[in-house]
Amino acid sequence: MRLSLRFVLPLLLAIGLVAYAVQPLVDQLTLKWFVRDLDIRAQLIANTVQEPLVDLVHANARSKITTLFNRIAEDERVYAIGFCDAQRRQFTGTRNFPADIGCDSLDRFEKGGGRLLASAKGPLHVALEPVRADGAALGTLVVVHDMSFVTRRSEETKRYVFWFLVGLGALVSLITVVVAQLSWRGWVQGMKALLRGEGLLRPAARIAMPELQPLARDLRTLMRELETGYRPRDESQITWTPETLRAILRADLRGEEILVVSNREPYIHVRRNGRVEVQRPASGLVTALEPIMRACSGTWIAHGSGPADRDVVDRHDRVGVPPENPRYRIRRVWLTAEEEAGYYYGFANEGLWPLCHIAHVRPTFRADDWAKYVAVNRRFAKAVVAESRSSNPIVLVQDYHLALLPKLIRDELPDATVITFWHIPWPNPEAFAILPWREELLAGLLGSSILGFHTRFHVNNFVDTVDRELEARVDRETFTVSYGGRNTAVKRYPISIEWPPAEAAHWPSIADCRAAVRARYAIPDDVVLGVGVDRMDYTKGILERFRAVERLMELEPQWIGRFTFVQVCAPTRSRIEEYQAFETRVRTLAEQINVRFQRGPWSPIVLRVEHAEPPEVYQHFRAADLCFVSSLHDGMNLVAKEFVAARDDERGVLILSQFTGAARELPEALVVNPYDIDQCAAALHLALTMPDVEQRDRMYLMRALVREFNVYRWAGRMLLDAATMRRRGRITEPAGATVVPLRRDGH
Ligand code: G6P
Repeated sequence: MRLSLRFVLPLLLAIGLVAYAVQPLVDQLTLKWFVRDLDIRAQLIANTVQEPLVDLVHANARSKITTLFNRIAEDERVYAIGFCDAQRRQFTGTRNFPADIGCDSLDRFEKGGGRLLASAKGPLHVALEPVRADGAALGTLVVVHDMSFVTRRSEETKRYVFWFLVGLGALVSLITVVVAQLSWRGWVQGMKALLRGEGLLRPAARIAMPELQPLARDLRTLMRELETGYRPRDESQITWTPETLRAILRADLRGEEILVVSNREPYIHVRRNGRVEVQRPASGLVTALEPIMRACSGTWIAHGSGPADRDVVDRHDRVGVPPENPRYRIRRVWLTAEEEAGYYYGFANEGLWPLCHIAHVRPTFRADDWAKYVAVNRRFAKAVVAESRSSNPIVLVQDYHLALLPKLIRDELPDATVITFWHIPWPNPEAFAILPWREELLAGLLGSSILGFHTRFHVNNFVDTVDRELEARVDRETFTVSYGGRNTAVKRYPISIEWPPAEAAHWPSIADCRAAVRARYAIPDDVVLGVGVDRMDYTKGILERFRAVERLMELEPQWIGRFTFVQVCAPTRSRIEEYQAFETRVRTLAEQINVRFQRGPWSPIVLRVEHAEPPEVYQHFRAADLCFVSSLHDGMNLVAKEFVAARDDERGVLILSQFTGAARELPEALVVNPYDIDQCAAALHLALTMPDVEQRDRMYLMRALVREFNVYRWAGRMLLDAATMRRRGRITEPAGATVVPLRRDGH
């Protein structure tokens, strides 16, 4: 009914408007017709009375003329009739002849003049007819018709027109309603047929309504997308932002909740001067994943390592973060001091870390550490199961601390999609072979649906390792490993940072940053400034960096007193002897170099061993003329990308170790071998003398890359791959992926 009203109401409205507009037209038309009618009548009367009137006028029989006129005026429409002589002086007429029509005022009723006269009785029609005798004018006959019947007729006509239009409207509405109802039924049936696939899949049953054919393909595509959750996307055509990620989660992953699991938590609660404060740890992993979690919400499960962490969690060990505007939550896992010692300091950082990084530090493997590592991985698996609201969550497992977790999750939640990302390098098979628990570790990782590394090189190393260590099938075409009846896709996903960095909106100007950093370290304006920001880790090549500064002073002494290198080092894993020794070596070397080249208050190296929060780190990057990243081995190294992001002025030179993943993406940096001290010194000199135009060209290209390949794209690609995998799983798993051949004999 509603549908019919949609047609009928506008129709009735239009007809009403037409009726309204037509009224004056009807009035005018009827008036015109009746005036013409009365003209003819007056002429007829004049012709009829011509002869007797001429005789009576000749006989000057005025009373007989009046009698003749009175007789004519008995006609219901003839109101009055009169005669004026040729001179228009003498008048003879009926009694009721209107007083305002005198013989002397007949001119105004001549043809072409006004022929209608308003009177107290209503409108009158006045017609003048000449009376002739033998060709000479004898006078004028004045015939006055009563026109009130015209008004009556006009009213009647209007009524007829009105009812006619009402009738017409009703008829048209009725036809419209019937046709609309029939068409709608046809459309509905057509649509149903389309949705059933008739007319598309079965041409014989082609639907009756050809109008729907153009919609058919679109509709079917939409249905398929809704059914399978699959929407073709060209990853390179997407502008990667937090919104894009959210859209992927909504559309491709149907809003599934994301769980992130890592050892390091993104916010650490500490107590300072009796107050609880938050700290953001120096960790590439945290730098990359924090913006992702802000965009996607969900839960981040991590070791609660902060001294005040327990004070802020709820009874489920959860806390909303970021503290100023919570967007997701951290679920903290508590570890005993022994567990932390064995799992984190021991197996992860004295075993796996040096095993995976070629930094010439010997790994230490202890059975007890391994046992703790296994136990803690189990603890994390329990937390994942507890936090997961469904049987098939998407779990993003992070890094070498949790290598066993993918399999443990798979054992508990077989339908989960586990995406594991290994943030550090993967060694070659020979190097890996020294690990006593290599099979267990590999089997743990192969519980993942997707296993990601920064570079193709590390992907190859991993696949080669599996090939060598396990009874697994390795498909080098698709980079898929089949092990224990399950497939793991091994892929390259170079990690990145958010673009623009969250802090960017609050950055002071470059000039302010320069002034602040120089004031802080008492560096005069004419001294060129280099920076390095790292964890105090032997893989970062900090000693090699200092030696390069020293060598620069030796080879290019003009820089003595004119170049200072500020190194900010965040203390890390300081309970490990190797790290303690390394810090001592760094401090000693800086001291030695400074003593050697010191000139008054100037020194070549400023070493600050202290944690710096992101705003301060960015302030250093913006203040610097060059940034030196000299890692001996690094999965990616996000410091390099952060420096590039910080330089919206397109100035500053990046010197970058060839042994970082970042060097593959940023060839516009001055790429160096950190072991080649002379080459590094030359790079420093080149950076210090690089013209502004060249700095700008290089920085422009590097910024373009980081902008385009930002961390949202990194996470987006993994999530899209996970979505594809889940769709395929829905189709292939219930029926089994293998097609069994039919046998002729029916067995
Ligand atoms: C590297 C690792 C991360 C780790 C970070 C900081 O980037 O890949 O997993 O969080 O170092 O180390 P820490 O031991 O302090 O967590």
